[in-house]
Amino acid sequence: MQADRSGQDLIENGEIVACQLTPAGSNYTFLAQLELGDQKGLAIYKPRDGESPLWDFPTGTLYKREYAAYLLSEVLGWDFIPYTVIRDGPYGIGSVQQFVEHDPKQNYYNLPENNADQLQMIACFDLVANSTDRKANHLLVDGSGKLWGIDNALTFHSDMKIRTVIWDFCGDRIPKQYLGTLRKLAKQLQAPEGRLSELLDLLEPGEAAALLRRVEWVLSEKVYPGSPMRSRRRR
Ligand SMILES: Nc1ncnc2c1ncn2[C@@H]1O[C@H](COP(=O)(O)OP(=O)(O)O)[C@@H](O)[C@H]1O
Ligand SMILES: [Mg+2]
Repeated sequence: MQADRSGQDLIENGEIVACQLTPAGSNYTFLAQLELGDQKGLAIYKPRDGESPLWDFPTGTLYKREYAAYLLSEVLGWDFIPYTVIRDGPYGIGSVQQFVEHDPKQNYYNLPENNADQLQMIACFDLVANSTDRKANHLLVDGSGKLWGIDNALTFHSDMKIRTVIWDFCGDRIPKQYLGTLRKLAKQLQAPEGRLSELLDLLEPGEAAALLRRVEWVLSEKVYPGSPMRSRRRR
């Protein structure tokens, strides 16, 4: 479930009282315990200074992209990225994201059935955000069966470099409701305000223009790219 107002307050303002390095991360990624008054909870804390340098993304920008991806999911109203903020922590500024309770044995390859709608939405988001790291274990299922997309830091590069496990829908038409939402986004990008303008301020020069180009590309193609031969299931 997405954090309610008090859960969001905890993520934003809670004291990080303990940090434990996650073994699966490719950066210094911590499971953080937060406390605020009587409230306690868990979050994933990724300090900028713990980011591993990459050849293609500017150094020290991944925490911003993590937050920018969350903002994009909010602007679109697609609600599949856990509540995320940029804030200070014991190892300096970084992203802090609500921890989603999940079964770590579950991943994209053994997802429960009946999630095609959610996967279509995430696959559409990935085209627009230019997601470069949608791995099997970056899709989590919470206790209610809802799908969450985590580790969204490798996004918004100006060169097209989508890398994803979600090839289920190659050649299928993108559902009308998602195209409608993207049409609205294309308009908003002409005169950005609020969260969208906050998102664009996080990006490097040229990346905002590339975002609009990708939205226009998806709107003109109207289908999920790739060869239908690769599409194995959930159609
Ligand atoms: N919001 C989250 N809720 C639950 N577990 C998470 C969340 N974000 C990350 N994790 C866990 O931490 C691991 C490492 O996080 P990830 O985002 O992949 O870090 P990195 O950027 O270092 O690759 C993930 O594989 C997952 O097990
Ligand atoms: Mg990862």
